[in-house]
Amino acid sequence: MRSRFHILAAQAGALLLMTAAAAMAQPADTPRNPFANDPAAIAAGQKVFNSTCTACHGVGATGGRGPALNSGRFSHGSGDYDLFQTIRTGVPGTQMPSFGALPADDVWRAVTYIKSLAGRGGAFTIDPTPVTADPSPSYPVEDDYGPPLEWEPGWGWV
Ligand code: HEC
Repeated sequence: MRSRFHILAAQAGALLLMTAAAAMAQPADTPRNPFANDPAAIAAGQKVFNSTCTACHGVGATGGRGPALNSGRFSHGSGDYDLFQTIRTGVPGTQMPSFGALPADDVWRAVTYIKSLAGRGGAFTIDPTPVTADPSPSYPVEDDYGPPLEWEPGWGWV
C-alpha cells in the first residue's frame, strides 16, 4: 500500500514547488517583456529609439537633454515593465513626454534595446559590431512604425 498516498503526496509537493517557482520568477501581475529574449528586437528597438528618443537621450542613449540610459541603472525603476511604464506615461513635470501613442510592442522593443546597452547578461549575446547611428534622427519615424508622429504640447509625440 505504499503507492497511492505517496504518489499523491509527491504530486502535491511538485505542484507546490512549481507554483512557488512561478511566483518567484514572475511577481504578481507584472507584464513581461514579450521581446526580452528576442535578439531581433534590439535592432527594431534601436530603430524606434533613433527616430524618437535620440533628440533628447543622444545617439546610443549616452545622454543629452535627457539622462543617459545605457548604464543599466534607472531612477524610475530598472525592471522592463518599469521602463515600459516610464516611456508610456512619461515623467510628469520633466521634459520626458509620454509616449502613449507608440504601439506597446515598439515600447517593449525600445526597452529591449535600452537594456541591451548595459548588457542583459546571458539571455543572448549582443552583436559587437559598432552601431551606425542615424546621423540625423528626425521625425517622422520610419514607415514600418506607423504614421508620422506629431508633437502635441502637453501630450508628447502623437
Ligand atoms: C523631449 C525630450 C525627451 C524625449 C523626446 C525622450 N525623453 Fe526620455 N527623458 C527625458 C528627460 C528630461 C528625462 C528625465 C526625467 C527625470 O528627471 O526623471 C527622461 C527620462 C527617461 C527615462 C527614465 C530614466 C530613469 O533614470 O529612470 C527613460 C527610460 C526614458 N526617458 C526613455 C525614453 C525613450 C525610450 C524615449 C523615446 C521613445 C524618450 N525617453 C524620449 C527627455 C526625453
